[in-house]
Amino acid sequence: MSANSAISGSRTLHRLVYASRQAIEPVRLNAQVDEIIRASIRNNRAVAITGLLLVHDGWFLQALEGPAEAVMSTYRRILDDPRHKEPRVLQAGPATMREFANWNMCARRMSDADDAILKTLSQREIDFAVLGGDQALKLLKVVRGIQSRTELARTA
Ligand SMILES: Cc1cc2nc3c(=O)[nH]c(=O)nc-3n(C[C@H](O)[C@H](O)[C@H](O)COP(=O)(O)O)c2cc1C
Repeated sequence: MSANSAISGSRTLHRLVYASRQAIEPVRLNAQVDEIIRASIRNNRAVAITGLLLVHDGWFLQALEGPAEAVMSTYRRILDDPRHKEPRVLQAGPATMREFANWNMCARRMSDADDAILKTLSQREIDFAVLGGDQALKLLKVVRGIQSRTELARTA
């Protein structure tokens, strides 16, 4: 194997960020997200995938990172899931480091307070329909920060 193919090979770190629309009845959302997370933690751990799932305003925004092959096979399985629709890949490719190394999958359902913070940070409404890749990753990183602080507060 040449050095080049090792660098771009299926075992190197990749990240994929996508957005999709929820297709879940509102009353079932919490239970369904719990179920998604349970399956995600179990499956993702086995193939070294980490990431974050943001659940907000009728949308899912998810980052998956890990070996390229594992990211693609996981994303293909997720695409078949009837609990969402209209998936749109916002960013996909090699990554230099894991941004969500702490979680095989972590879901954050934004509260109104979180929402207010995010809106203040971005100075405007977040429009998931036109969100770009860099913006999406930035948003997920802000959520990662909120999530870490919430966990610290809980264990303090
Ligand atoms: C928005 C969304 C995100 C998901 N993320 C993951 C994930 O990161 N990993 C995973 O294994 N399954 C994920 N799933 C669930 C898969 O679609 C599928 O139900 C699950 O992998 C099946 O696992 P099982 O065969 O072990 O029951 C997600 C589903 C949805 C709707």
